[in-house]
Amino acid sequence: MLDVSKIRSQFPILSRKVNGQNLVYFDNGATTQKPQIVIDAESKYYANQNSNVHRGVHFLSGLATDKFEESRNTIQNFIGAKHKHEIIFTKGTTDSINLVASGFKTFLNKGDEIIISEQEHHSNIVPWQICCEQSGSNLKVIPILDNGEMDMDFFYNLLSENTKLVAVSHISNALGTINNVEKIIEKSHSVGAKVLIDGAQAASHISLNMQKLDADFYCFSAHKMFGPTGVGILYGKEDILNALPPYQSGGEMIKEVSFSGTTYADLPHKFEAGTPNISGVVAFKSAIDFISNLEVNKIAKYEEELLQYATSELLKIEGVRIYGTSKKKSAIISFNLEGLHPYDIGMIVDKMGIAIRTGHHCAQPIMERFNIPGTVRISLAVYNTKEEIDLCINAIKKAKIMLS
Ligand code: ALA
Repeated sequence: MLDVSKIRSQFPILSRKVNGQNLVYFDNGATTQKPQIVIDAESKYYANQNSNVHRGVHFLSGLATDKFEESRNTIQNFIGAKHKHEIIFTKGTTDSINLVASGFKTFLNKGDEIIISEQEHHSNIVPWQICCEQSGSNLKVIPILDNGEMDMDFFYNLLSENTKLVAVSHISNALGTINNVEKIIEKSHSVGAKVLIDGAQAASHISLNMQKLDADFYCFSAHKMFGPTGVGILYGKEDILNALPPYQSGGEMIKEVSFSGTTYADLPHKFEAGTPNISGVVAFKSAIDFISNLEVNKIAKYEEELLQYATSELLKIEGVRIYGTSKKKSAIISFNLEGLHPYDIGMIVDKMGIAIRTGHHCAQPIMERFNIPGTVRISLAVYNTKEEIDLCINAIKKAKIMLS
C-alpha cells in the first residue's frame, strides 16, 4: 500500500491555494508536479556542481559529466535498455519523434508506407506527414473504434512489405486507452517494419522493459514523470541509431571536423549536439529514483483504483459521456456534459481550485472522429486522492447547474 499523504507532503505545490481554494491538480497528462527532491537536485546542481559536460579537464566539468551520465545509467536501468548509449537525451517526446522522423526519411523511397493511428497526439502525426511529404512515402492511418481502441484488424490489413515504420502511442493522451503495443510490435516486425512508440503518457504509469518490449524506438518526457521540463528521452536500438543520420549538428556530436570532411561521434553523442539541459537531466535522475522507490506497479494499481472511482462517480452525473471506454485504460478520463462546452466547465471548476484540461488535447483527429469540439480531461497521478475526486465531481455538478 502506498502512503499517499506522505507522497503528497513531498510536493510543495500541492499545499498552495488557487482562487482561495486548496489546489486539486488533475492535469497530470499535461505535466506532473515536482517533488522536493527534484527541485533540490536542480538547485543543488546550480549551487554546487554547475559546469559544461564532456568538455573540460577541470574538476567541476568532471563532476557535471559524472552526474549527467549517472542519470543516463539510471534511465537505462529504469527502462531495461541493453546499452547505456541507446539512451539519447532530447528536449522532450516531440523532439525525440522529430529526431527519428527527420533521419528516417533518408531510408524511404517513393511508395513506402508509414502507419500511425487516428489516436495520436499531433507530435506523432505531423513529423510523419512531413517525413512522407519529403520522401514521397504514404501515410496510412489505423482508425479507432467507438471505445477508443485501435481497430487492430484494420491495422493487420494495412501491414505489407511496403510498411517501413509504425508509430503509435502506448497510451492515448486524450482517451487513456492502453494500446496493445506488444502485438503491434510483433506484427510490424513480421513484415520487416520498424516501430516507434510514443510513451509520453506511459513511462511512469506502466512498468517498461525495452528488451522484452522489443520496440525499435521508445520516446518519453521527464516532465510527465515528476521531472523537469525540457528533458526527453529517445531510446533506440543500437543498430538503428547507428544507421540514422545525425539530427542536429555542431559541437559535441563530432569525432573530427575538418574542411575535407567531418566524422561523427559514437552513440549517444552523435545525437546530442550543443550544450544540453544539464540541470534538468541531473534532476530527472531524482524523479526516476522517486518513482522507483514507490514502484511503478504499485503506482499503477493505485491509479487504477482512482480511475475506477472517478469513472463511476462521474457517470452518476446525468448527461455525462466518457470518450475512451476500453478495458485497459490509464487514469485519464475525457468526457463531455450534454449541451455544455468543455471550456466553460474548465473555467468554472478552476474558480474552485481545480485544474483540469479542456480542448482537443493536441489530438484533433480524435475530436473529429467523435464529432466534438473537445473534451474535459481529468488526468490523475499517484498523489491524487478520492477526496480530491469528490471535490472535482461536486465542482462539475455545480458547473452544470450554473451553465444549464
Ligand atoms: N501532451 C500533453 C497533454 O496531453 C501536453 O496534455
